[in-house]
Amino acid sequence: MIQRTALVTGSAGFIGFHTVKRLLDEGWRVIGLDAMTDYYDVSLKERRHATLLQNAGFEAVIDRLETPGVLLRLFEKHRPDLVVHLAGQAGVRYSIEAPRSYVEANLIGTFDLLEAARAYPPKHMMLASTSSVYGANTEMPYSEMHKADAQMSFYAATKKANEMMAHSYAHLYDLPVTMFRFFTVYGPWSRPDMAPFKFTKAILEGRTIDIHNHGDMRRDFTYIDDLVTGIVALAECVPPLVDARDEVVEHDSLSAVAPWRVVNIGNGRPEQLMDFVSAIERALGMEAKKNFMDMQPGDVPATWASAELLEALTGERPATPVETGVQKFVAWYRDFYNC
Ligand SMILES: NC(=O)c1ccc[n+]([C@@H]2O[C@H](COP(=O)([O-])OP(=O)(O)OC[C@H]3O[C@@H](n4cnc5c(N)ncnc54)[C@H](O)[C@@H]3O)[C@@H](O)[C@H]2O)c1
Repeated sequence: MIQRTALVTGSAGFIGFHTVKRLLDEGWRVIGLDAMTDYYDVSLKERRHATLLQNAGFEAVIDRLETPGVLLRLFEKHRPDLVVHLAGQAGVRYSIEAPRSYVEANLIGTFDLLEAARAYPPKHMMLASTSSVYGANTEMPYSEMHKADAQMSFYAATKKANEMMAHSYAHLYDLPVTMFRFFTVYGPWSRPDMAPFKFTKAILEGRTIDIHNHGDMRRDFTYIDDLVTGIVALAECVPPLVDARDEVVEHDSLSAVAPWRVVNIGNGRPEQLMDFVSAIERALGMEAKKNFMDMQPGDVPATWASAELLEALTGERPATPVETGVQKFVAWYRDFYNC
């Protein structure tokens, strides 16, 4: 069998690391690009890459997406069949502090990636977007068929822009594109700036945890292994060209003018934030000291994914219960940080 090549951007990131691991397990050759930005602990990113480099099928490139010529050269050399674009500046809150970093990584970086793909078209491009693009929407669960035109943070605005930039390239150059909308992902090797990690660390260190909107928050937490199962399954669901369509799946977000669709990858079961905190407390066997606060600017009180399209396309649907996912995360954390 001919080995297929995937280019994964953000391969030293939380989701990128797990995605590369799964692709390697499934026999892909993987080129990973990551700039090792200092948005959070760089040594965690280095440890992720070091783990991946134990597999001979993985090659790492340390550079920024927007370094002139870097993506074009990578595409020319490796001619990837699949591109999974996960590099980017994440985080709702940091986009208030440092909005320009979102312009550079998310807007210019994604533009450079699309230009490289235009020159050397892969069979399928998959790009990360976020549940945050649903912004001020109140109709739940969030469906890909709903309009999502009222972003509440600049982070979400850059991700919505990415969706539409990719749509125009899909239309103009017949480039098949799947946009993922991820919902609060957690699990081993996760991001230190996200709540599950922050809460676990603070509880273990005896520090108080900040609970926003006085705990009245619901999040559709998605366990990393379920997310990666969705990504890898969707890799095989290439959006068909406009004139090559027969039957269309119900509620499909497929564009009428481009081989482009957007798919939620979320649990479909929102959890109360306080229940999630209780699951961490149970897994640690420790009680958290809590500081109840107002809502943070740019944030939304609830997220809830419709997982119908993901299931209709792939037969997969996230299923890991929060209790199990949190136990696995906490076990990893204690082992990794030796505490
Ligand atoms: N984790 C979540 O819950 C979640 C939810 C919704 C969307 N997303 C999106 O999914 C993607 C992956 O998220 P993650 O949680 O793995 O984040 P992450 O920060 O762990 O990974 C992103 C990686 O991209 C790299 N990077 C940043 N800017 C770069 C640039 N200009 N050039 C090259 N590399 C660069 C970083 O060094 C990092 O390793 C991001 O686009 C994020 O916005 C994540």
